Amino acid sequence: MTYLETAAQFYSEVAQTPQIGLCCVQSSPLQLPGLKIPQPMQEMNYGCGSTVHPAELANQPTVLYVGVGGGLEALQFAYFSRCPGAVIAVEPVEAMREAAARNLEIAAQENPWFDPSFVEIRAGDAFNLPVADASVDVVAQNCLFNIFEPEDLTRALQEAYRVLKPGGRLQMSDPIATRPIPPHLQQDERLRAMCLSGALTYEEYIQRIINVGFGQIEIRARRPYRLLDYQTYHLQEHLLLESLDSVSFKVPIPVDGACVFTGKTAIYTGLEELFDDHAGHILQKGVPAAVCDKTAAKLATLIPDKLIITNSTWHYTGGGCC
Ligand SMILES: C[S@@+](CC[C@H](N)C(=O)[O-])C[C@H]1O[C@@H](n2cnc3c(N)ncnc32)[C@H](O)[C@@H]1O
Repeated sequence: MTYLETAAQFYSEVAQTPQIGLCCVQSSPLQLPGLKIPQPMQEMNYGCGSTVHPAELANQPTVLYVGVGGGLEALQFAYFSRCPGAVIAVEPVEAMREAAARNLEIAAQENPWFDPSFVEIRAGDAFNLPVADASVDVVAQNCLFNIFEPEDLTRALQEAYRVLKPGGRLQMSDPIATRPIPPHLQQDERLRAMCLSGALTYEEYIQRIINVGFGQIEIRARRPYRLLDYQTYHLQEHLLLESLDSVSFKVPIPVDGACVFTGKTAIYTGLEELFDDHAGHILQKGVPAAVCDKTAAKLATLIPDKLIITNSTWHYTGGGCC
């Protein structure tokens, strides 16, 4: 069996017998007015964060959701689009497709605004998305791509890039590792399927997104996810996994490199009213301006004694590019 087949078998098992808390985080599922999440769907919340960002879901975007799980986030996306086929959910595991379909039927009974036709569940996988090039506004995946070995992760990212319209968004939530995961854990296919041993470091994860062509990445959340303790996992010392929520935009990569926003700001502290770097950034004295990490580093070397760069908050919700 390949590691992907092991993962498929594992998700077939947890589709039939829900494993509560498999990927749970400290945050409860996004609650929205008039949205009731059915109990069986909650019990199959196999995500590690959230990919649903309400402020950006105006104008009925077309959403391609990869790895439907119990259907929770597909339902949340459908809340915003509310029309047949607006959410296409791709899932290779038959038992999972059946479970999601059952859960969405229950959702329709519990939510007067929802009709199961709003979510179209299709057989398929992350490497061959069953939609045309440049045809969707949003691709979302939660706690799936971390399962993939690095070269397969790149293939999945390329496929997401292919199907997104120009300007479209890849909305992801995945575990990342605070240091490289040793080979003996990476090769454990069941741990990998459980989202415990495939995670890349933050730097490698972001670089792979940039490498397929995404020009702007915004970090929406970063928080502790799981501890791999040294006794259980045969490590030299404990290894902390974090979960990372991100939105990557299909926009051209600027000539000086991609913009990665992690919540840093630049504050001009000099004597003038304004500082203009003549590269698109005008800083008002004393007023924090959101900057990407690349610009933060450039500004810091430009006028180190007249600038404060604040730390990454790991929460950035838009508002300009550099
Ligand atoms: C960790 S679960 C996450 C489910 C869902 N996103 C959630 O947040 O509850 C991973 C999902 O991806 C599906 N999956 C596994 N291999 C896949 C592949 N190669 N392509 C697409 N989906 C896959 C699994 O069957 C499962 O439904």
